[in-house]
Amino acid sequence: MSIALPVVGSQRPAAVNAPPPAPAEARPNGALYDSHGRRIRDLRLSVTDRCNYRCVYCMDPDFRYMPKQELLSLGEYLTVARVAAGLGIRKLRITGGEPTLYPQLGELIEGLGRLAFADLAMTTNGSRLDRMPLDRWREDGLGRITLSLDSLRPDRVARMTRTRATPATVVHAIYLAREAGFDPIKVNAVLMRGFNEDEIADFADFAREHAVNVRLIEFMPLDSSRSWNRSIVVTADEMLREIGRRHELVPLDGADSSSTSLNFAFADGAAGSIGIIASVTRPFCGACSRLRVTADGKVRACLFSRTEWDLRPLLRAGASDEEIAQFLGDATWTKQAGHGISSADFVQPERTMSAIGG
Ligand code: 5AD
Ligand code: SF4
Repeated sequence: MSIALPVVGSQRPAAVNAPPPAPAEARPNGALYDSHGRRIRDLRLSVTDRCNYRCVYCMDPDFRYMPKQELLSLGEYLTVARVAAGLGIRKLRITGGEPTLYPQLGELIEGLGRLAFADLAMTTNGSRLDRMPLDRWREDGLGRITLSLDSLRPDRVARMTRTRATPATVVHAIYLAREAGFDPIKVNAVLMRGFNEDEIADFADFAREHAVNVRLIEFMPLDSSRSWNRSIVVTADEMLREIGRRHELVPLDGADSSSTSLNFAFADGAAGSIGIIASVTRPFCGACSRLRVTADGKVRACLFSRTEWDLRPLLRAGASDEEIAQFLGDATWTKQAGHGISSADFVQPERTMSAIGG
């Protein structure tokens, strides 16, 4: 069954942005389902829209952050997470912006750890891990860390992140994360033609050398400069072809069906693995099990939603857990069937990746 989605800004006044009530089957036995029959089990919680990088595929140099008072408090993030845990969310990923810039990250991890998600992970650009209490985080229940590295050449990392970061920063972060016991360690690389498409096979070498899961990501239309176009996208087919010239890959089956990546090991048994995130050329929307909450408390049922539901007023009004659960259930019910990047009427969302959470 599908329902008509309201469009922000046109049919509704901007102030009214609570989801319409979902039918009772949206929350059978307290679990979260959307109107397309998908069970939602993963929550991505963005805790800041601030970042010390300005990646070309994400944030323009003059990007404007949300005012601080718009962002949720520690207690509000933990309330959202607690209610989500009660709705059967088993996987929570802390994202940003750059989450290490969130001043109460330690307390947040401690609180989330107590909620005992089956999988508690964080995505970070890795630039600040050397000053973070990784052992403490591990003890508190953070299980996995995903880092970003878009090139293996210093000049290109600088060009893509628009900082003085180097690949060595991330290599060091891998070392620190491993020492602290994070496992597996994933490394995200967004491929863009004209920037790094000639390094695909080198990334496979990097996965082997550092025994990490390298995730090659198709560039998605979530950049603040709106410079996305199909000709810049390096496709999954191209990634597989390039790696195949150097290494034989074997598909890893048994991967979780809601996995967003195509996963491969090396046929020669080398360490490391490859994940390909082909959001553009091979969308995995049918298996999507995600819900997102932004740092300012907007619930987004899809990365590419043009509609978001404002949970903050409810949180600030001291709503009960049941009222928040109802809101999350209603918002989930509106999840669109797919992102529609390939349809002629696709419109890029207002928010960039940094303000949604990757
Ligand atoms: N397309 C694809 N991936 C992106 N990321 C950020 N912006 C984009 C985009 N436009 C990824 C980065 C980062 C993660 C949080 O999101 O790889 O690791
Ligand atoms: Fe920052 Fe991540 Fe966006 Fe890069 S992709 S600018 S590291 S939030």
